[in-house]
Amino acid sequence: MTVISTPQDYNEDELYIDLRRILGSPLYLKCEGFNFAGSIKLKAAREMVREAERSGGLTPDTILVESSSGNLGVALSMIAASRGHRFVCVTDSRCNLSTRLLMEAFGAQVHVVTAPSPINGFLGARLDYVRALCATDERYLWLNQYANPGNWQAHYRTTAPAIVSQFPELDVLFIGAGTTGTLMGCARYLRQWHRPVWIVAVDSVGSVTFGRPAGRRMIPGLGTSVRPPLLDESLVDEVIHVPESEAIRTCHRLARRGFLFGGSTGTVVSAATAWLDEHGSPDLTAVAIAPDLGERYLDTVYQANWLRDLYPEESFDPDDRTVDAH
Ligand SMILES: Cc1ncc(COP(=O)(O)O)c(C=O)c1O
Repeated sequence: MTVISTPQDYNEDELYIDLRRILGSPLYLKCEGFNFAGSIKLKAAREMVREAERSGGLTPDTILVESSSGNLGVALSMIAASRGHRFVCVTDSRCNLSTRLLMEAFGAQVHVVTAPSPINGFLGARLDYVRALCATDERYLWLNQYANPGNWQAHYRTTAPAIVSQFPELDVLFIGAGTTGTLMGCARYLRQWHRPVWIVAVDSVGSVTFGRPAGRRMIPGLGTSVRPPLLDESLVDEVIHVPESEAIRTCHRLARRGFLFGGSTGTVVSAATAWLDEHGSPDLTAVAIAPDLGERYLDTVYQANWLRDLYPEESFDPDDRTVDAH
């Protein structure tokens, strides 16, 4: 029995899906969506708030503020509610409606930026707003997930050790890159581990994180329009860029087998299956990280009108089971 008294105390860290039957690839998917914040961002949020409390930067007067495409905002809203802090989340119009409502249900104030910055996109506009807000009142404390070491340290302390304790023969790890906190924390831990592990960063086409040109991206969580300061590319062995349409097709395939995941999981799984098709061997141990679950994406990734409006050239046939028909 597990008994908790604060929501941030619970996180399922031992659940993996063997995707071999569904996708034909020898891939284990680590599910990070089973906690009260519904995503892997619980870990970064917990670590950053704990550190701010420890350092004395968080007083009863403090108003926490953060820019988030959704999941970190939900995690911080939950922790702020639990710890009695005020919290303002600055997000943009791509944030899912249910995510926004969730934050408000926790008592957070949500500010939605509706126009991208001409040079640095929506993320640039969100950061401009946060900086302007902090300049108006010294009670605001910006945790700044893009530069806060607590973001990657959370994964160095928890995610990577949890994976290798279950997979002592780990050969390759696929990690989606947003702020690159998960990527950097896992990569730093695995670089010091006794066994070499091939680290594959997964990004969306249109993200500038790894120096590619900017382009439209609609799936939140993964990819950036401003290069993330936490990123140290020397810790990454390979980068794979996945078009959003491909990520969405993978989400649909998984959903048709009963597993509903968010768009970034579709992105990571798409990259991993393509990589394994090319390089895989039966004795290779491969793990990918699924940052969240799919319910928050019912009105986007899983909605026919949204797909038609945004990807008019693409076909998304959910009944296409040619690959995994059995
Ligand atoms: C949906 C989703 N995808 C990808 C990521 C990538 O995480 P990071 O910001 O650690 O790079 C996150 C982070 O939580 C996420 O919520």
